[in-house]
Formats: sequence, C-alpha cells, structure tokens
Amino acid sequence: MLRKIFIAIAIVVGAAQPLLADNAVDPKADFKAFRDYFTKRFPKVPLDDFVNGPYSMDADLRKQWKAIDEFPPYEFAVEKGKEMFATPFKNGKTYGDCFQNKGIGIRQNYPYFDAKSGQVITLDLALNQCREANGEKPFDYTKDEMAALTAYMAFTSRGKRFDIKISNDPRALAAYKNGGEYFYTRRGQLNFSCASCHVQSPGNHIRTEVLAPALGIVAALPIYRSEWGGMGTTSRRFTSCNSQVRGVPLKPEDEAYRNVEYFLSYMSNGLPISGPGARP
Ligand code: HEC
Repeated sequence: MLRKIFIAIAIVVGAAQPLLADNAVDPKADFKAFRDYFTKRFPKVPLDDFVNGPYSMDADLRKQWKAIDEFPPYEFAVEKGKEMFATPFKNGKTYGDCFQNKGIGIRQNYPYFDAKSGQVITLDLALNQCREANGEKPFDYTKDEMAALTAYMAFTSRGKRFDIKISNDPRALAAYKNGGEYFYTRRGQLNFSCASCHVQSPGNHIRTEVLAPALGIVAALPIYRSEWGGMGTTSRRFTSCNSQVRGVPLKPEDEAYRNVEYFLSYMSNGLPISGPGARP
C-alpha cells in the first residue's frame, strides 16, 4: 500500500533525483546538483528555511510549530545538558576540555573526518570518546543523556552555519561516497532508500507526518517528538527511519550511519544549525 502511494508520487513529480557523480568522487558537483534540485523544486522556500524540516514544507504545520515553540518541549533537555556539561568527571576534567572553544558554538563543524583514526567523527561519538578518555562509561546513543548533551551543544550553535570539510584524503572521500551510496540505496521490505522519502517525496504526508526535505535534514537534531514523548538523537532518528521501511537498522553510530551523516551535513553546508528541534 505504502509502496504504491510512493510510486504514484514519484511518477507525478517526475523530477530526476540528484544522484552522485558517476565517475570520480566529486563532492562539489554532488553539492551543486543536490542544492539545485531542492531550490528549483521548492522555489518559494527560502534557503535557510530548509533546516526546519517538515515545517518548511507545510503552512498548517508551521502554525502549530509556532505554538509549540512558545514553550519549547526541548528546553528541559537543554537545561539538563548544560548542567551535565558543566559537571566535572570523577577525574576533575569536563566535557569542555575535550573540545575546541570548550565545546561552545561548535556543533556546525560536526561530523568531521579524523585523519588519525581514519574515520568520521560525529558529535555523539566525540562525546562518548571524551567520556571514555576520562574513565567514564559511554552513554547509550539513543537515550536521554546523549540527547541532552547534544541538545545543549546544538543550542549554543544555533544560527551558526554548517562548515563540513571533505579533505583531499582518499579515505575521507571514500567515507563521503559510502555515506552517499547508503543514502541512495534501497532497502527493507518496502524497498525504499532514504532518498525515496526525503528527496523524492518531501512535503508529502506519510500517515500523519509531513516528510522533511533532505536538504538541511540534520540541522535540527536532536529532536523532541510528541510521538516519542521525548527527545531523539541522530541515532534514534536514523534507526527509526530504517525500521519504517521494515528494514533492519544498523547499530547506533555504526560507521555507515556516521558516513550518511557526513554526506548529509556536507550537503547542508552554509545552512544554519536550528537544533534542538520540536516536532508534533
Ligand atoms: C518511509 C519513508 C522514510 C524513509 C525511507 C526514511 N525516512 Fe527519515 N523520516 C521519515 C519520517 C516520516 C520522518 C518524520 C517526519 C519528518 O521529519 O520527515 C523522518 C524524519 C527524518 C529526520 C528528521 C527530520 C526532521 O527535521 O524532523 C532525519 C534526519 C531522517 N528522517 C533521516 C533519514 C535517513 C538518513 C534515512 C535513511 C537511512 C531515512 N530518513 C529514511 C520517513 C522516512
């Protein structure tokens, strides 16, 4: 049923997807195709507004959002995160000691490719690496503690623009390519890719939800959702999206998920951080 609806939508819209460059890995060319696709398809949406996910696509929803945001449901998480951030570990160090600028206003630089370990480091991974380096147990990537820390860090970075670098290191390019391919690969019993929903069908309804556009889709994370009755981290969101297509989600912060986040964040370069977000 779901699948039939989507095929119908794809035919009606008929817009070619901005796929990855064919030959060499070419992030700049992909970036241009991706940006052009969304700005041409949604000419009335101001570029910076794409970071507001479903609200950028739907006027009624936007009204509800304005009401929600008067008493933001993520405020509790931001407060908790702020307190956690300031509380020293048993060894006397703090999270701030692990980050540039003491961790304030830096969320827009994540994820980045770490030449030393040869992998993509997301903010969530960096936070757990910080804990472990200081003798603390890592947090569950899908639960409230991680959501609170990342909510606070996003909050201190609001309005700062994504500045993701793909260095000229073949390993960084490979990670980027892997992320892009994961994003466009169909999977699950319903045989959808991330792009089937977030590139081909943004603005369309799926049950009661309005699909967010892939452009700027990581800017509002972590997100409070009424349906969850709480906050969701990046891992919670990605695993839920995989489950929606009756696919088997990867482990939270699995390398492929981190690569997808790297790809999507690079595609959002220049757009402002809007997190933490709130959704109905
Ligand atoms: C069956 C359709 C579907 C597929 C496939 C899908 N998603 Fe989603 N996604 C949703 C729905 C529904 C929501 C909640 C409404 C919204 O924000 O789009 C959502 C929300 C999101 C959000 C939060 C957006 C926001 O601003 O609230 C992110 C990030 C996201 N998806 C990433 C992904 C990634 C990465 C993949 C591939 C691993 C993926 N999605 C695959 C349906 C899908």
